[in-house]
Amino acid sequence: MADIVKDEILAQEETDKAIAKEAELQAAGGKAEDDKAHPVVLETRGVTIQFGGLTAVDHASIKVRKGLITALIGPNGAGKTTLFNAVSGVYIPTSGEVLLNGEHLEGKRGFQINEAGISRTYQVINLFRSMTVLENVMVGMHTRLKSNFWSDLFNSKKKREEDAEAREKAFEWLKFVGLDEYANSPAGSLSYGKQRLLEIVRGLASDPQVILLDEPAAGMNSTEKLELDALLKQILNMGYTILIVEHDMKLIMNISDYIYVLYHGALLAEGTPEEIQANPDVIAAYLGGEDDVI
Ligand SMILES: Nc1ncnc2c1ncn2[C@@H]1O[C@H](COP(=O)(O)OP(=O)(O)OP(=O)(O)O)[C@@H](O)[C@H]1O
Ligand SMILES: [Mg+2]
Repeated sequence: MADIVKDEILAQEETDKAIAKEAELQAAGGKAEDDKAHPVVLETRGVTIQFGGLTAVDHASIKVRKGLITALIGPNGAGKTTLFNAVSGVYIPTSGEVLLNGEHLEGKRGFQINEAGISRTYQVINLFRSMTVLENVMVGMHTRLKSNFWSDLFNSKKKREEDAEAREKAFEWLKFVGLDEYANSPAGSLSYGKQRLLEIVRGLASDPQVILLDEPAAGMNSTEKLELDALLKQILNMGYTILIVEHDMKLIMNISDYIYVLYHGALLAEGTPEEIQANPDVIAAYLGGEDDVI
């Protein structure tokens, strides 16, 4: 009798092993598929940023995959904006690397990084408030415009044609986010939520390889947040790649493909929304802070 039980246990163990092996193979296959369909576009490797004695970002390594929404979350002061600033050229990392399609960005200036294919929005809205809504989008397009200093100087036909085309394209972007009726109003006259949308389309107007969004839902009401959720998915469907920092956990868990959690400058966890929600370290970090509990 005991032998039969033992045989059954052994048989069960064999089955479990076979199932585990199968799952492992599937995961490996899944990963290979992921690499192919969603290759890494942007990567930080061991990025550290110090301000005097304070280490704001501590050896942070993240990967942003093409055509996906990657999120960076963490309590206030975790270093999220500072990492964005290192990627977009506001700060030069104290150490570590920032790579866009394998090309080193660390040490480059903001405009060079923008030209290389990274655009961003800001936690504190950063629009040209007295310029019109349309002009703000056109500013975002300047890296894609071809005329140069000489054609500008002589206001050549090429320049005029390009301006007209840029205006038309900028208007299309405004239509896309429902801001076309405000095209000729000063950007500063828009509501807070609409200014955030304008920042997003200004970022998209340069046709970036990756757009970084720093708390796009901040200051939005619940209807605007729902619209933002739909808009981000639409942007993704257009083929764009998004790296987002956001405190609104409902939005993050709903839209993100992959999440990195920063805590006191260092990476605490990474994974799918389901994995992050179930991670005890993440729950403890958020319960200990003032942010929304996941
Ligand atoms: N220019 C700076 N000089 C000195 N310290 C700074 C500077 N910028 C950020 N810090 C500090 O670095 C740390 C990380 O700040 P950061 O703004 O990156 O956090 P965050 O994760 O974006 O927070 P929040 O969710 O509140 O926006 C904080 O302690 C902050 O005070
Ligand atoms: Mg921030």
